[in-house]
Amino acid sequence: MSILDKFKLNGKVAIVTGAGQGIGKRVVLAYLEAGAKVVLAALDDDNLSNTAAEFESQFPGCTMPFACDVTSQSSVDALIEATVEHFGRLDIGVANAGVVTMNGLDKMDLDEFERIQKVNVSGVFLTAQACAKRMIEQGEGGSIVVTASMSGTVINTPQKIGHYCASKAAARQLAKAMAVEFAEHNIRVNSISPGYIMTELVEPLTDLHALWKPQIPMRRLGKPEELMGLYLYMASDASTYMTGSDVIIDGGFTTV
Ligand SMILES: NC(=O)c1ccc[n+]([C@@H]2O[C@H](COP(=O)([O-])OP(=O)(O)OC[C@H]3O[C@@H](n4cnc5c(N)ncnc54)[C@H](O)[C@@H]3O)[C@@H](O)[C@H]2O)c1
Repeated sequence: MSILDKFKLNGKVAIVTGAGQGIGKRVVLAYLEAGAKVVLAALDDDNLSNTAAEFESQFPGCTMPFACDVTSQSSVDALIEATVEHFGRLDIGVANAGVVTMNGLDKMDLDEFERIQKVNVSGVFLTAQACAKRMIEQGEGGSIVVTASMSGTVINTPQKIGHYCASKAAARQLAKAMAVEFAEHNIRVNSISPGYIMTELVEPLTDLHALWKPQIPMRRLGKPEELMGLYLYMASDASTYMTGSDVIIDGGFTTV
């Protein structure tokens, strides 16, 4: 098999959470282009239905939208069940859904702190665990990719997002722990830690862009598509010996 063939996902089925927009939406496109069938999981909103309709017209029969709240075990279980019922199997799980608020740790109440941990940590736990259970049942291994963040390694400034930084450090460690536990089933678990990426979430924060750029050696924010080589590599058979790794893509931010 040629090296480029190893990146192909033909015959594989993937679930991507947070697929309605931003990074998740680009992951869906990358996996569809590589030949996979993809279930788009996100909160039940217009983004999910519009994104799903857009991809279904480009890749007929290869997508399925599923309204899912990653903080609910029954919702995540239903996602796996619907995936297997529709596409027959599951090979790749991308735990990408994540949220952030901006508030100082001195002012933040417990509700806000826990809301962020619930999506960014418990949501990753529930998604990755449910995917792994199905992969173990299938007995053919699989690949799980967690979207963490450079905020799991550094504390960003000037915005105050300490609760988010804590959640992303937890997500990275959770991915590593799962990598160790699931290795005997040939299920690989890796995480990707993006720097500042121009998604719908970040685009409106123009005042901050100007403050961030001098902090980034490449002096610009990244584009979601600049992460896709890694999402594809980690999901595909090009990375069969990679597990427990976290890879930062941040234009050099965490290097200085
Ligand atoms: N954009 C960045 O600069 C950046 C940098 C580092 C890490 N990240 C991480 O990348 C991931 C995607 O970020 P983005 O910028 O594309 O965000 P985004 O806000 O554009 O998209 C987030 C998606 O997650 C979904 N979502 C939110 N809560 C959910 C829940 N409870 N259940 C299911 N889906 C839910 C939303 O519906 C949406 O589709 C997040 O985990 C984020 O923390 C983003």
